[in-house]
Parts: sequence; C-alpha cells; structure tokens
Amino acid sequence: MKKTLMIAATSAFLISGFAATEAVAGAEKKCAACHNFTNKGKVGPGLLGVFGRKAGTSGFKKHSKALKSADWTWDEEHLRAWICNSKKAVKEFTGNKKAKTKMPPQKVCGEKGDEIIAFLKNLK
Ligand code: HEC
Repeated sequence: MKKTLMIAATSAFLISGFAATEAVAGAEKKCAACHNFTNKGKVGPGLLGVFGRKAGTSGFKKHSKALKSADWTWDEEHLRAWICNSKKAVKEFTGNKKAKTKMPPQKVCGEKGDEIIAFLKNLK
C-alpha cells in the first residue's frame, strides 16, 4: 500500500514536471518566431525584463501607435489578456475601439498563458 502510494506520487510528480517543461518549450517556440528572450528586438520587441515594465518602452523601433503611446504596465492581468488575444486586448487597454497592434492574436489562454507569464517573469 505504502509503496503503491509512493509510486503514484512519484509518477504524478514526473508527469507534472514533464508537462511544465513541455509548455515552456512550446511557449518559447511560439513566441520565439517573433521575439528574442533578450533585450534585442526581432519582428517584435525583446522580452527580457518585460514583466513589470511599461508597455512599449523596450527601445524597439517598430511599435504600433498604440504601443508607442501605451500607458499600462505588463503585469499578470495585462499579459494574460495580451497573450490570449492581443487584437482585442489593445482595444481594451487603450479604451479605443479602433486601436491596433502589430502582434497577431496568439490564442494562448488560461493556464497555458499563465505558464508563459511565469516563464517571462523568470527571464534573466
Ligand atoms: C507573428 C509575430 C509575433 C508572435 C508569434 C508573438 N509576438 Fe509578441 N509582439 C509582436 C510584435 C510585432 C509586437 C509589437 C506590437 C506593437 O507595437 O503593436 C509584439 C509585442 C509584444 C509584447 C509587448 C512588449 C512591450 O515591450 O511592450 C509582449 C509582452 C509580447 N509581444 C509577448 C508575446 C508572447 C508572450 C508571445 C508568445 C505567446 C508573442 N508575443 C508572440 C509580434 C509577435
């Protein structure tokens, strides 16, 4: 009985550990098509240090108007909405129904989005 429990606990740990690694690798892959996880821009701005930073202030030269004049900070709430649907989020954040961003909606929502946020927080 005890042994069975231990095996169950160990495999649960292995499975969740594996899932987390998978998600981060997946996240990296998806975002890395356009972003570096350094402070260097690519198609989009470098994401190093983005958590807690004011939007549009990484020094990236090709921001949309909306991001250039952004007045929000990338906290969990903003990132969650952004990673799920940037097209919709930019309208909400700016309060302008016509606002547009150059980042296409990624549709990474809910738990998956939270895993990406954790990944961004830990970037060094
Ligand atoms: C197809 C290219 C593309 C993909 C894929 C993409 N992004 Fe972006 N991202 C951009 C562009 C372009 C901008 C600049 C948007 C603007 O100025 O309107 C941007 C901006 C951002 C910003 C704002 C940064 C700042 O300094 O204000 C964050 C945060 C961000 N992206 C996160 C992500 C995450 C996380 C993913 C992966 C789930 C992702 N992006 C996937 C193109 C992309």
